[in-house]
Amino acid sequence: MKINLKSQSEIAMIRKAGMILAECHKELAGNISAGMTTLEIDRWVEAYLAGRQATPEQKGYRGYPFATCASVNDVVCHGFPNDRPLENGDIVTIDIVVNKNGWLADSGWSYRIGKVSEEADMLLTVTQRALEAGIAQAVPGNRVGDISSAIQKVARTAGVGVVKPLIGHGIGRAMHEPPDVPNFGRAHTGPLLREGMVITIEPIFTFGDTGAVLWDDDGWTIRSADGSLGAHYEHTLAITKDGPLVLTTV
Ligand code: MF3
Ligand code: CO
Repeated sequence: MKINLKSQSEIAMIRKAGMILAECHKELAGNISAGMTTLEIDRWVEAYLAGRQATPEQKGYRGYPFATCASVNDVVCHGFPNDRPLENGDIVTIDIVVNKNGWLADSGWSYRIGKVSEEADMLLTVTQRALEAGIAQAVPGNRVGDISSAIQKVARTAGVGVVKPLIGHGIGRAMHEPPDVPNFGRAHTGPLLREGMVITIEPIFTFGDTGAVLWDDDGWTIRSADGSLGAHYEHTLAITKDGPLVLTTV
């Protein structure tokens, strides 16, 4: 499928969605704490977006029932918000796709609840570093494989696993557009990065060094196969002649 290049005014529209999303995550970062439930967070996010004339694109997407994905501990991705209070030491990823005037931005962050174990802290730090390493490769003339291999290298060096079935993607008016942006691969391979492409980069790592995962019976919730923790960081960004322009940061 053809990769859809965006004009500067289209990128500005995605930026509007991204700014709302970034501010929403900033609020979460400052407030998320033990005792809250992920269902409360989900409702808060939906109301936050409604207050800014924006909507959560996940809700109803292929039948997904919530405004956010909320993935706690061994849930690595696409967890359902629920009514279990978060506990000190948990990690939770809140993943949100904002629709503002028909344009989308996608960003997920793993949060620490209270004081987490040293290894949990390391996993989150490493996954966030991999996102940054991937973003640094998102320049015109590079290829998607340069992003992928930079991410994989960070995982390998840290001795953590890449969850291979879950990948970044193009984004615009649709949540998932070409190209795929895997979290593993070889440098100098794959589609050429060109000015005007808008993509997500979203490493998802687990402790098990294979990164193997299993789906729950709900058809959505993805857990690490070995029960170890999972972490996920995601930004939406544009490829510009001046370098990567992150659209989901304040
Ligand atoms: N942020 C996720 C992604 O990267 C959202 C897909 S999950 C769904 O694509 F709930 F929206 F389906
Ligand atoms: Co995404």
